[in-house]
Amino acid sequence: MSQTMTYRTDENERKNVFRAYLVGPCIHPADPASTADDLKELAELVRTLEVPVAGQIVAGLKAPNPKYYVGSGKAEEIRDAAKEAEANIVIFDVALSPTQQRNLEQLFGMKVIDRQEVILDIFASRARTREAVLQVELARCQYFLPRLTGAWTHLSRQRGGVTGARGGGEKQIEYDRRELRQRISDLKAELAEIRKHRGTQRKSRMRANLPNAAIAGYTNAGKSTLLNLLTGAEAYAADQLFATLDPTTRALTLPDKSRLILTDTVGFVRRLPHSLIEAFRSTLEEAVLADFIVLVLDASNPNVFNHVETTLSVLGELGAERKSILVVCNKCDLITDPLTRIKLKNSFPDAVFISCRTREGIDALLEALSAKCGGPSEIRRAEIPPERADLVALLHEKARILESAYRDDGVFVATVSVSERETDRFAPYLAPDDPQPNQTNNYDIKTGETP
Ligand code: GTP
Repeated sequence: MSQTMTYRTDENERKNVFRAYLVGPCIHPADPASTADDLKELAELVRTLEVPVAGQIVAGLKAPNPKYYVGSGKAEEIRDAAKEAEANIVIFDVALSPTQQRNLEQLFGMKVIDRQEVILDIFASRARTREAVLQVELARCQYFLPRLTGAWTHLSRQRGGVTGARGGGEKQIEYDRRELRQRISDLKAELAEIRKHRGTQRKSRMRANLPNAAIAGYTNAGKSTLLNLLTGAEAYAADQLFATLDPTTRALTLPDKSRLILTDTVGFVRRLPHSLIEAFRSTLEEAVLADFIVLVLDASNPNVFNHVETTLSVLGELGAERKSILVVCNKCDLITDPLTRIKLKNSFPDAVFISCRTREGIDALLEALSAKCGGPSEIRRAEIPPERADLVALLHEKARILESAYRDDGVFVATVSVSERETDRFAPYLAPDDPQPNQTNNYDIKTGETP
């Protein structure tokens, strides 16, 4: 069904056929300069789809108009400018209602899409695992359901009966709607299964009892590159926006020998459509459930402060706003203006400045990660007598229990990874992790049996 619904179905067609004209509505009293900045970002997104940008306009208005979003005079002006620029698709940097989209298409005589559809398309072309593919498809089905009427009218007019040959527009729409609703419920069911599996994987990671960090940040900040650099993982790094749609999880051994689980997450973007946040919730949950967040910024991007704002607001929307955050300013090799570094330092005094390309700052980053993990830790053997059940509870809280068992005499014995600064609390009950034969603690830690 999808070929009857959207402008982007055939990637080659899109690359060869479309020339886009961008419209940035600027509602009074918003600043036209900031709308123009936003349009730069939209242009970047559109180019990610390999669609050339033929021109753009900042359209001032007092309030959104229900018919065309902009006023009718402005709508005509946009049509003329788009034709003049030889564009054949107009992209609005806002969310259009299905009616506005339809009306604009009628007036312009060309395709009109909005920012949401661009982002949905980028996500669709980047999805690589089954989960990501299904998540994107769900978001797209939900987006297109209310737009089906318009899409049908538009396509039957446009394709001159090729896909429209089935005729009987009304009937076809009903059929498509039913099919789409069915697909939505199938997708939800399949995603629920995958989420169950993800939940199990997550639990087993938690059982491994290692600290967890999620790498988050604006799209193209260098998250995957950083994960690759730190862990040698083959996370997909490409100079395209949204190269990552699937979380990639890797373990990292820090120089102090402590271990950390790092998970790459999907790139964030300004005004990420709500349907996508919902669809990607389980992936993005990695950030919510992590012990802390590594927020990667492209320090060379002039819009870096907007990117931080966007990322924090998406994290907030996910419920992760109170997480501890380590800010990592990446791409320092590309910073040309020394003021940028100073401004970033002022805003994020604890930030680490790195370049994945030149490896500048990587040692400082590893140190900062160690500190977040509680500093250097040691593997110790703990033996806690039955009367100190309080310490057993504290040990669970403050240390990572690698193996544990209760001996017949009620003593809790465990191999633990404990940070240096926590060892004092447990000092009388800790020993180096090198059990000697013939000592009282000579037993099988897995079964708790003494030979
Ligand atoms: P999404 O998947 O879109 O969220 O992107 P990402 O944040 O994972 O970015 P990715 O790692 O794919 O990197 C984006 C581009 O930036 C790639 O071309 C990288 O090679 C480049 N890049 C990453 N780090 C640096 C750096 O320190 N300096 C320079 N010059 N380029 C970098």
